[in-house]
Amino acid sequence: MAEGLDRFRQFLCQLTKLCDAGAEEHDIIEHGGASLRGLVAEDDWLPPEFAEPDAKHYRQYLLYCDPLERFSVVSFVWGPGQRTPVHDHTVWGLIGMLRGSEIARNYGPDADSRLAPDGEDRLTPGMVAAVSPRIGDIHSVENALADRPSISIHAYGANIGGWRGMSLSPRPARPSPSSPDMPTGCSPTCGTARRRCAPASGPRRPRLRQY
Ligand SMILES: [Fe+2]
Repeated sequence: MAEGLDRFRQFLCQLTKLCDAGAEEHDIIEHGGASLRGLVAEDDWLPPEFAEPDAKHYRQYLLYCDPLERFSVVSFVWGPGQRTPVHDHTVWGLIGMLRGSEIARNYGPDADSRLAPDGEDRLTPGMVAAVSPRIGDIHSVENALADRPSISIHAYGANIGGWRGMSLSPRPARPSPSSPDMPTGCSPTCGTARRRCAPASGPRRPRLRQY
């Protein structure tokens, strides 16, 4: 079995091969997720400079960006009490818990197509979860531990440095002719988000999926 940074290289190679093969999102989530699970199975590879918490805000360290910007990988470092706002993603994402624990509070449309709480998931070391517009991706994330940092490794189907798809704060409902049931939290200017938020039939219950 590969050790340390070799496992990180293997994870990057796996995602690169999937992208080169033109893999569909569900294949990337399945096979990339399995590779990420192998990566976070051991907490022996992340250099300390990419694991430093900040006293005030959670931090993101770019670990790798695909030269063709098909995916990027970051470490999220959460200090005690730190959390994100409610946000969506607009692209696929894989989350592997490396150290500590985090809680994802999920949101989905209620019966009136308003954004409402929809359960939560707690990740512990070695666990992997996925988000995407297809399977659900509206949530807030926070450090589950009050006394120490937590670290998760995230891969996204875009260059996180140049990516404008993520909405980091819920927006007021803005019904439009093409998406009359669009809930809050979705970007009315983003075609991907609008498609996700205007399902062909019935309200959806987006969830962060653990597997
Ligand atoms: Fe997220």
